[in-house]
Amino acid sequence: MTIIANPPIPQVTLVLAMSLDGKIADAQRGAARFSSVADLAHLEAQVAAVDGVLFGGGTLRAYGTTLSVRNSDLIAQRQRRGQPAQPIQIVWSPSGNLDPGFRYFRQPIPRGLLTRAAVAADWVQSGLFDTVWPVPEARTQPWDWPWVLAQFKAAGLHTLALLGGGGLAAELLHWGCIHEILITVCPLILGGSTAPTPVEGEGFLAAAAPRWRLLSHRVIDGEVFLHYQAQPSPPAPGPGGEGSKP
Ligand SMILES: NC(=O)c1ccc[n+]([C@@H]2O[C@H](COP(=O)([O-])OP(=O)(O)OC[C@H]3O[C@@H](n4cnc5c(N)ncnc54)[C@H](OP(=O)(O)O)[C@@H]3O)[C@@H](O)[C@H]2O)c1
Repeated sequence: MTIIANPPIPQVTLVLAMSLDGKIADAQRGAARFSSVADLAHLEAQVAAVDGVLFGGGTLRAYGTTLSVRNSDLIAQRQRRGQPAQPIQIVWSPSGNLDPGFRYFRQPIPRGLLTRAAVAADWVQSGLFDTVWPVPEARTQPWDWPWVLAQFKAAGLHTLALLGGGGLAAELLHWGCIHEILITVCPLILGGSTAPTPVEGEGFLAAAAPRWRLLSHRVIDGEVFLHYQAQPSPPAPGPGGEGSKP
């Protein structure tokens, strides 16, 4: 995997909570509310640290809402850094099939929509989003994430928290566009073959799997907070079996 580590794309951190058996929700694929108060505070701190938050349409449909920054100290820290009180909360929905009745649309946050150009106009007209990023059809088959993220960067979003779900995480991982992962392992088992996992999609063959370096680990009340950084993939073996340089 080639890591796109430098601008023009924002620094992207995937933040998730996962059961012991590697599920991010139960088999009904509803909202995941199994982590502790400590994990929620950890998540809020990540949201408070960034310029923008990105999540998939499946996640918004599961929760109907997103996590805003409510802690007044965290809001004050943002303002001291010259950031607005809340990061923009961007939903990726190629179909634009979102219910305007979701509580998300009444939360006191800036909202963004990333969608296909063909369905963007109706949402622009609705006035429900502060910013709509329409993506030309040619860049949606497949989604050209380096290009999309460069648009975010050009809009002043230098840091992005990626809050799932597994469908969206798979998209960005495929392009090498995730720089760090913060994953909380929670002491429960969800099981079930239909329960979502941190990374959906087609997956990677083991030989080509993205590799991660552990930066830190903490244990709080039985939950394990892990922090990983993307590692560049080793050079492909050359004809003599040695690594070849690009
Ligand atoms: N534990 C945690 O930390 C955590 C965090 C986040 C989410 N979750 C859980 O994860 C689940 C949601 O994850 P998810 O993987 O289902 O959804 P997701 O990653 O949030 O969203 C999936 C995205 O894929 C798009 N999509 C689907 N089929 C597509 C196709 N054929 N071509 C292009 N785009 C396509 C959808 O677009 P449309 O909008 O157009 O359909 C949607 O935007 C929920 O159960 C939620 O509770 C858990």
